[in-house]
Amino acid sequence: MDDGITIRPLRETDAEAVVALYTRAAAVEPRLGPVTLPQWDQFLKLPQNRGGRDFRVAGRGGRLVGLAESSLRHHGAHQSRFLKIVVAPEARRRHVGLALLDDVLAIDAEADLTVQTQVSPDWPAGMAFVTVFGFVHVGSEIGMKCVEPLQPARTLAAARASIEQVGDVTTCAAEVARIHNAAYASDAAFRLYSPEEMAQLLTESEVWIASEDGQVSGFCLTEPEQNSMWIESMAVDPARQGRGLGQLLLYRVLTAHDVSVEHPCWLNVSSRNAAALKIYRRLGFRPQHETCRFSATRAELIAAREGRFQ
Ligand SMILES: CC(C)(COP(=O)(O)OP(=O)(O)OC[C@H]1O[C@@H](n2cnc3c(N)ncnc32)[C@H](O)[C@@H]1OP(=O)(O)O)[C@@H](O)C(=O)NCCC(=O)NCCS
Repeated sequence: MDDGITIRPLRETDAEAVVALYTRAAAVEPRLGPVTLPQWDQFLKLPQNRGGRDFRVAGRGGRLVGLAESSLRHHGAHQSRFLKIVVAPEARRRHVGLALLDDVLAIDAEADLTVQTQVSPDWPAGMAFVTVFGFVHVGSEIGMKCVEPLQPARTLAAARASIEQVGDVTTCAAEVARIHNAAYASDAAFRLYSPEEMAQLLTESEVWIASEDGQVSGFCLTEPEQNSMWIESMAVDPARQGRGLGQLLLYRVLTAHDVSVEHPCWLNVSSRNAAALKIYRRLGFRPQHETCRFSATRAELIAAREGRFQ
């Protein structure tokens, strides 16, 4: 590594430099950014990021040239570490990424801890980097876009469900957490939410709830933007899945937002989630891009690192 480079934990005062780093990197890898200051603040506030406690930055001559975002996520009994490294284009191929990875690997002690990262096939440097450290491709996130919602069949069993936008999110946080924890349990990126953490998360989104017989059966979290909207998360209680409720809920949300060519709706879905992919296609969503999900144990990464770099 370049002698003038230092690695240290992220500080609150780094926010503007992080935004500038993302702008420089996004010029080389579109879709990596840009990231705005409010988006960065909001990202740090996500419960799993704990204010960026495990994030690291690389600096050279007082300038921030690299960032490792890292968070430990609990999946019920076990946990895994999520990682994303971004190095400024002008500072690449000097082992800054390697030094950031080393620092993040030193946070934990367990050899069999799973480390996950996501890289777009459009970022050749990122693909080369994860390959050299022995990460294995375990699936992909598919970015989908809808410009014209297609109405689901009227005969769906769940057609009588009541679907509404929630004003006071504290009233439904516990039920949303229960459904999230049950519905996403087998997902590679799963994180268990307590009712309190979910209440905090819900304040950042627009919240839609589907109920049947007074019981919350599903939820949809959306993020309206100026000329588009995002579906952040959607889930149906596993006990009530397969009856068309997810389709009805999402269709209602799309029409409430007047989704169109001028005002499209975006979402990300796992390539392994066949049921969700089918529903989204049926509602008019079409795949636009892919992000590969990579995984390795901490011990495998350390072994690959020692074998290749002394
Ligand atoms: C991927 C990224 C973090 C690498 O940062 P970096 O500081 O340039 O990487 P390093 O110098 O530590 O590279 C370590 C090894 O990875 C491999 N590698 C990294 N970039 C490479 C490239 N462009 N082409 C081929 N191999 C590459 C090499 O084997 C390199 O060692 P070497 O230079 O001794 O051959 C940087 O390119 C980046 O920010 N890309 C955009 C974001 C991204 O894709 N992140 C990956 C998610 S973890």
